[in-house]
Amino acid sequence: MTGNNLAIIVLAAGQGTRMKSRLPKVLHAIGGRPLVGHVLTTAGRLGADHIEVVVRHERDQVVGALSEAYPEAIFVDQDDIPGTGRAVQVAVDALPQDFDGDVLVLSGDCPLADADTLQAFLAAHRKADAAATLMTAVVDDPTGYGRVIRDADGGVDRIVEQKDASDDEIAVREINAGMYVFRVGVLREYLPAVGVDNAQGEMYLTDVPGMLRRDGGRVAASVVSDVTVTFGVNDRAQLAEVGRLLNARIVRRWQLEGVTIIDPATTWIDDDATLSADVTLLPNTHLLGATVVAPGALIGPDTTLVDCEVGEDAVVRRTDATLAVIGPKATVGPFSFLRAGTVLGAGGKIGAYVETKNAEIGDGSKVPHLSYVGDATIGRGVNLGASTITANYDDVNKHRTEIGDEVHTGSHTVLVAPVRLGAGAKTGAGAVVRKDVPAGALAMTVAPQRNIEGWVEKNRAGTGAADAAAREKSAE
Ligand code: UD1
Ligand code: CA
Repeated sequence: MTGNNLAIIVLAAGQGTRMKSRLPKVLHAIGGRPLVGHVLTTAGRLGADHIEVVVRHERDQVVGALSEAYPEAIFVDQDDIPGTGRAVQVAVDALPQDFDGDVLVLSGDCPLADADTLQAFLAAHRKADAAATLMTAVVDDPTGYGRVIRDADGGVDRIVEQKDASDDEIAVREINAGMYVFRVGVLREYLPAVGVDNAQGEMYLTDVPGMLRRDGGRVAASVVSDVTVTFGVNDRAQLAEVGRLLNARIVRRWQLEGVTIIDPATTWIDDDATLSADVTLLPNTHLLGATVVAPGALIGPDTTLVDCEVGEDAVVRRTDATLAVIGPKATVGPFSFLRAGTVLGAGGKIGAYVETKNAEIGDGSKVPHLSYVGDATIGRGVNLGASTITANYDDVNKHRTEIGDEVHTGSHTVLVAPVRLGAGAKTGAGAVVRKDVPAGALAMTVAPQRNIEGWVEKNRAGTGAADAAAREKSAE
């Protein structure tokens, strides 16, 4: 969608000193996506003709994190002159000369402004025929934000930054949300005149509305009722708070789509995860990355799934899984660890204390207890006895294990890869299988059992074991 006569400028050049982090602030993630990624995702929904991201601090890292996911974004480098005013100026200079529409300015550290809010904001600006429109909010604690100073008629007079504010101004609770629409001509005219004569020695974008007003320009304010859409992240406490608000929004969205979520406070769902009706999430469940859950699945408690696919009516309890596919009606857990490349077929089972990796486990096949299955292909209807292990690594290379349909292994079988068990084969308990087993064969590798009668009474006379043995024998 183009032709909206709209350019969007996303400010992402600052360091974010208050984060005290090696990572640039705008790359800190909530909901599985960097802060600035949320802003760009929303920006992408507004039908803008141009989307620009202003970068400077760790610019390569910021560009690297965003360019693939947001191919429509143009990255513009801010020079050494600091401040949001300079950031917008370099972005405006990078727009085509003949662009004469509106410029929506967004901050890379304010991820909660959704597309509906911004559409309404833009519509208010256009309806008021204003030269500039600020988004503002009245908040309980305005600390850190720029304050909106109104004139006697209630119109916007100017914005004052907290560090430059008088005591009276500090008491004002209407804040500048840091989101604005300007006619591009306003920015071209006034930004070159913005100075750095302020407490932070920066070119403030926030000077522009006051300057415009002095010249009789029309400055409007759009006061949002849901103040959370304006929340910005400047430190780690705000990162957690904004992350919690985003998660609450995502949880509610899925609840309204028919997902039962027992405990929203301990259920974390990334923005890219996809759920379905009649899914049930038990407490402390984390559905991360591009996880997809089919209808009727039950997940949790205490489960983390990263980039997983869960089939219809599957049950996944107390499990940690990454890049795994869990088939319909399959059951996983409790205490299972599914690593990348695990594919569990329909009706299959991965049970307690089982670790899997690069393992295709066919329909109806079961790995119920205490096993490691890595680099394996397992057919249908297989049952691996408790503590069956694939020994896939010889200290140098990884090797594959292949198991045909309907194979049953005895408890404590070690499958030394590369090795193949033909369809219907069986292994005895404790077998160490180093050679292929033909279809239908029973593989036994443990020496036949030999009982030495009376050994305990002879060699351990006077112990509890010897006495117990004697008692049992006399009772026979
Ligand atoms: C800014 C506003 C303040 C408003 C608040 C809302 C100014 C001067 N102040 O303050 O009125 O209440 O946002 O959240 O604009 N950035 C650049 N280049 C720079 C400096 C910053 O691109 O030279 C970017 C940052 O990466 C960030 C955004 O601009 O994404 C805002 O910068 P920040 O330093 O967080 O401004 P605030 O102090 O929060
Ligand atoms: Ca900020």
